Amino acid sequence: TRSMTTSAKVNIDHIKRVGVIGSGQMGLGIAYVAANVTQLPVVLMDISKEQTDRGIAFMNKLLEKDVAKNKITAEHANKVRELITTTNHMDGLAQTDVVIEAASENLDIKKAIFRDLDKICHAEAILATNTSSISITKIAAATSRPEKVIGMHFMNPVPVMKLVEVIPGLATDNKVLQETKALATAMGKTCTQVTDIPGFVANRLLMPYINEAFMVLEGQFATAEDIDTTMKLGTNMPMGPLVLADFIGLDTCLAIMKVLYENTGDSKYRPCVLLQKYVDAGWHGKKNGRGVYTY
Ligand code: CAA
Repeated sequence: TRSMTTSAKVNIDHIKRVGVIGSGQMGLGIAYVAANVTQLPVVLMDISKEQTDRGIAFMNKLLEKDVAKNKITAEHANKVRELITTTNHMDGLAQTDVVIEAASENLDIKKAIFRDLDKICHAEAILATNTSSISITKIAAATSRPEKVIGMHFMNPVPVMKLVEVIPGLATDNKVLQETKALATAMGKTCTQVTDIPGFVANRLLMPYINEAFMVLEGQFATAEDIDTTMKLGTNMPMGPLVLADFIGLDTCLAIMKVLYENTGDSKYRPCVLLQKYVDAGWHGKKNGRGVYTY
């Protein structure tokens, strides 16, 4: 039988059902990996039925691709399909032992969600957030059990990227921290642990780099293509910074820069005006067909 005791000997067999909030690119990736790798039942929650339907269709495509590439058997794919169910109400998460929230990157939305989770989930449930930059401590403070709240920051695309940043908030229990690390490991990921600082580690380093690429573009010192080629071929990045920004979403990049800037007060993090302008224009990147590049 499956045991999710990891090398650190943290037993998480009591985690029998995973909830995921948000049927966007991150939530879907997390739900997919949770079902596919840990083979636990996953409840995917989004307030919009259209979004959860679209999510299931997207996951079917991922499963078909993995079957076609002989990465998984058709039988395994069917099992994963059975493991993932959807709900359009928070109540649908009542029976879950860990919830990973991947809703919009907005403090008020996240606070409202965590207030609901506090009412709905059983006392031992782990309440994790995939926030890329909002303070875990702030989100935790919306609940009456901040010791159960933790950051679990996955990278995009979740099925491919091997890292999860685990971020305890000020009040997070050590047991919750160890179990969250064990869960991420059971999902096939490598964990790092970061204190609850703006941007954690990944975005504290990545976003100023992307922002600087926008500054070079804004100054017309090089074309977008040449900036990307420089970093892709010159430093062996899988994507250049501007392609990567489009891939992440320019709105997301800007939001994270603002968090770094506003929470540190350090001018070195000021968002590039050109990045702001693109977002103002509605150019949010690959997801809506127009960013630095046109898709
Ligand atoms: N979902 C699932 N799988 C995906 C995928 C997606 N959205 N996109 C690509 N893949 C899979 C492909 O299907 C392919 O799988 P196989 O090995 O089974 O063929 C594999 O990834 C490689 O894809 P491709 O061959 O099409 O393309 P590639 O080799 O150019 O890789 C990439 C694509 C993995 C995205 C690569 O370009 C890359 O690593 N880019 C950088 C990504 C990155 O830096 N991510 C972090 C962003 S920052 C972040 O996420 C944090 C935050 O808070 C903002």
